[in-house]
Formats: sequence, C-alpha cells, structure tokens
Amino acid sequence: MKYTGIMKEQLQTLQTDFSSALANIITQEALKELESEYLGKKWKLKAILAGVKDLSIEEKKTIGVAANTMKNEFIEALVNKAREIEDAYFNEIEAKEAIDVTIGYPSDNLGHKHPISHTSELLEDIFISLGFKIEDGPQVEDELHNFDKLNIPHNHPARDVWDTFWISDEVNKDKDIGERLLLRTHTSPVQIRTMMSQELPIKIIVPGRVFRYEQEDARHTCNFYQLEGLVVGEGVTFGDLKWTLDTVMKQLLGEKTELRFRPSIFPFTEPSAEVDVSCQICSGTGKVKWKKCSMCSATGWVELLGSGMVHPTVLEGCWIDSKKYSGFAFGMGIDRIAAQRFWVSSSRMFYQNKLKLNEQF
Ligand code: DAH
Repeated sequence: MKYTGIMKEQLQTLQTDFSSALANIITQEALKELESEYLGKKWKLKAILAGVKDLSIEEKKTIGVAANTMKNEFIEALVNKAREIEDAYFNEIEAKEAIDVTIGYPSDNLGHKHPISHTSELLEDIFISLGFKIEDGPQVEDELHNFDKLNIPHNHPARDVWDTFWISDEVNKDKDIGERLLLRTHTSPVQIRTMMSQELPIKIIVPGRVFRYEQEDARHTCNFYQLEGLVVGEGVTFGDLKWTLDTVMKQLLGEKTELRFRPSIFPFTEPSAEVDVSCQICSGTGKVKWKKCSMCSATGWVELLGSGMVHPTVLEGCWIDSKKYSGFAFGMGIDRIAAQRFWVSSSRMFYQNKLKLNEQF
C-alpha cells in the first residue's frame, strides 16, 4: 500500500515536470527530445512502473490505469505542441512575407516591357491560341544539333551563312566533331531536340536568343531573337504552313496584312520558302508621302522569315518515318517583326539602350 502511494507521488511529479518542460519548448527538435525522454526507449514512466511487480493485483490495476492515462495525455500534449510550433512558424512567415496590396506605387515611372519582349509575348499568345506548345533549348549548343542533324554536315558550304561564335579552343580541343560547343546561330536545333525526345504529333514554337558572327549594320546584329515553329504529324501539308503563317501575321499586324511566299533553299526543308509581309510603314505601296519607303526599300515587302516542309533526311535523323509522317517548320526574326510593329527603321536600335526610343512604345 505504501509503495502505491510512492508511485502515485512519482507519477504526479513526472506529470508536473513534463508539463513545465513542455511549456518552455519552442522548437520541433526540443520537442522530439522531450518525447524520447518521456516516452522513448528509456522513458521515465517505465522506470517508475518497474516497481509494479511487487503490488497486489488491485493496486497494479490502479497504477496501471493511471500510468496509461498519463501516457495518453503526454502523447496528446506532444501532438498539440507540435501543431502549435508549426502554426507559429507559418504565422511568422506569413507576417514577414505579407504584401499590402493597398500600398501605392513607389513611383509612376515603373518602366515597361522592351519592344522585343512585347512582340515575343504577343506572338506566343497567338500561337498558343492555335494549339502550339512553347519549347526551350540551350543557347550554348553543340555542333550536332545546330548543324549536322539539320542536314548541314561538316564542310557544307551552307555553314557560311550561319557564321558562328565557337566556344573557346580550350573547351573544344578534346571534343569530337559534332560535340564541339558554339553559341547557337538559330533556334532550329530545338526542332531536333524536340523530335528526338517527344511523341508525335508535335506542334511547338521556340522563342529565343541566337548569335551570329556578323558585321553589324542596320539590319544585322551579333545577337538577336528568333521564333521557331515546328509541326510534325500525319498528313501535314504546305497548305497548313501557309494558313498558319497567314493567320498569325494577320492577327499580329492587322487584317490587311498580306504574305508573299518566295522559293528559297534551306538544307533542313524541302521545298523551302522565304516569306515576306506587306510593309506596314507604306502599306505595301513602296511610298511614304510620295517619297520612297526606306523600310522596304520601296519594294512594298519586308522579308520576315524562312520556312518549308521538314526535309526527310532531318525526319529520318530523328528516327521519324518520313514515308508516314510529314512536317512544316519556320523561323522568324522577332526583332524584325518588332521593327515592323513599332515602325522602327533599324532593329539595331533595340539594343542601344536608348530610353527615348523604348519609352515611345
Ligand atoms: N534557321 C533559319 C535561319 O536562322 C530560319 C529557318 C528557315 C527556320 C527555314 C526554319 C525553316 O525552321 O524551316 O536562318
């Protein structure tokens, strides 16, 4: 009987110690420690209960029930504390990161999108509305994707057209032909990456930055932006290509816009065509107030993009059966389109950081 009294007292002390220890805890780690101290392998309650074996059955029952109830109370208290600590953690984050949407702008002059970003995003929206997906690829590309797989093998004269910035000899010297790295000269390598990794049908656009080793002039810059398009599936035709480009350009530049397809040559398409758009500055007349239009050199047309049906060799190189599937592709210069939209005579001006120019749009 005496022993039961001592045990009850010990349980009481344990309960008080536990409660005051718990009250001081503010981290999950400390809580875990307390848990193992009281309920773990060497839990304190166990030590007290070791003496139970000397008690009568009746006493055993009383102490057993009391101990069990206490154990359950400990568990419940620990769970509640864990929740409390978690809530406090998230409340603190919420308070720190709260955004007061009623606070005014620090300045009226917040700036705005660059004409190229603006044009690119508009084009993306139009293509997305036609069911295209957006893809991306590396700007530091390998020779295989930038050239070989696009049917432009080593020493092919067409490589001259895409004069390239190669990554330093130090990096490239031990690489095999095809593995050598360069700054991509066009967004077309993403066609290859997509065809080699995705199921058909494919319907993608690839907006992105490209680089050329160029002599800079009004129409040429070392770095500019392109938007590539690729559609591959069963029964894709040149008519689909024409419809797509016509629809996009009319949405972008206005219903009156006309397109002109001229036969051309690209190693990765057959047949190939370059596409011109009726000049926005002179509405295709070649004249502005009786003077020759400088944007289109008085021709009424501005060259916008290259396009064509994906060459069977390119399809086969990406393990696509060219007898069963066909595709069209195109690549447009976003800078040139932006120049047309915003009536800027030289796309080089977009890179000169002239606020006076950018602020007009
Ligand atoms: N990659 C070409 C260039 O940069 C543009 C181009 C032409 C892309 C025809 C195409 C295409 O996808 O079919 O000059």
